[in-house]
Amino acid sequence: MQHEYAVSLPQPDAISAAHSERCAGYIRARIHDAGGSISFAEFMHYALYAPGLGYYAAGARKFGDAGDFVTAPEISPLFGRVVARQSAGVLRSVPGGSLLEFGAGSGRLALEVLRTLDELDALPVEYRIMEVSADLRERQQRLLHEELPGLAERICWLDRMPDAHRGVVLANEVLDALPVERFIRRKDGVYQLRVADEAGEFVFVDEPAPGVLASAVEAIETDVGARFPDAYVSEVSLAAPAWLRDVAKVLEQGMILLFDYGVSRRDYYADDRDEGWLRCHFRHRAHSDPLILPGIQDLTAWVDFSAIAEAAADSGLDILGYVSQSQFLLAGGIDAELSDFAGMPIESQLRTAAQVKILTLPGEMGENVKCIGLARGDIPRPAAFDSADRTHTL
Ligand SMILES: C[S@@+](CC[C@H](N)C(=O)[O-])C[C@H]1O[C@@H](n2cnc3c(N)ncnc32)[C@H](O)[C@@H]1O
Repeated sequence: MQHEYAVSLPQPDAISAAHSERCAGYIRARIHDAGGSISFAEFMHYALYAPGLGYYAAGARKFGDAGDFVTAPEISPLFGRVVARQSAGVLRSVPGGSLLEFGAGSGRLALEVLRTLDELDALPVEYRIMEVSADLRERQQRLLHEELPGLAERICWLDRMPDAHRGVVLANEVLDALPVERFIRRKDGVYQLRVADEAGEFVFVDEPAPGVLASAVEAIETDVGARFPDAYVSEVSLAAPAWLRDVAKVLEQGMILLFDYGVSRRDYYADDRDEGWLRCHFRHRAHSDPLILPGIQDLTAWVDFSAIAEAAADSGLDILGYVSQSQFLLAGGIDAELSDFAGMPIESQLRTAAQVKILTLPGEMGENVKCIGLARGDIPRPAAFDSADRTHTL
């Protein structure tokens, strides 16, 4: 039977639908084991990462035209080239500097960064990749070994956080793929949104929030200076700051560059954002029903960058800057990358111009995606953070 979606979405093909049903079965079993409901963070974790079944853990196409969404490195090589330019100075100044990329997706960012660092004579000792998805890890290995055979021995995949890292840490759209808690504020307290199974359909139920979540929500209210209105729904990422603290622990000297859809806490928890920041992507349609299509749709939640800045400060990191993606690319040298634009064939000019638009225009990723730069120790500050820094808004 075909499911009638509340949003207008294309029907999944038979193979995808069967895969989603298997993933749903796995989640139903977890709900049963847990006595009737699981937190939304657990649901999101299983829908994205259940072994062999979750969206990132299994073989769905995910990126690009035939997938569900596009990311900056999939749109244009220019993104990776500017990231490389901004990393080169740090890699040169840190003895034994390596690059550590989290969640490398299809491997395209690694490909462009390595190619450009090679041209700039600033190759890292190692290009380390931490990837939770076995499927994506395989795709990354295939792409990088095919395209960069001469650099293959520098590229390695890690199974766990390294004991120490010096150089650059990079993550594009990884924080927004970490599971979030959802909450609802009521007059008598903070409630956790949980997922239950009602006759084969996933539904939200709520229960008084456990202490960690209630305290996190109350701390946000104290920070923004007001209690959320009754029935206000939003998300809190407990995972993103914890992830950053883990990364900070191993960074001895160097820079962390994090790119993601996100805003400052004040904007994140504005009164009119009373349904939160969760987005779901299926075949290039964005919608807000996370409980359908488990295992075959992407689930993401925008990032509260103030929480990232706080975790950085707690971990003794300095903030180099917080800028829009557009600002990062413009101040970071995209113009130098386009210096031969006039000499390009017209088709390449049109393609490049369209890519630059998507990467930099305010209505697109240009403004919605932000980059926060963090540092440990004495490193040169990349030019990308020289102007229009918004750290004061965090
Ligand atoms: C939205 S995709 C972004 C992929 C890629 N960075 C890009 O820009 O195209 C999220 C990526 O993060 C990975 N991921 C999620 N949690 C992770 C974690 N804790 N450590 C490392 N990778 C993770 C996913 O498997 C996936 O590769």
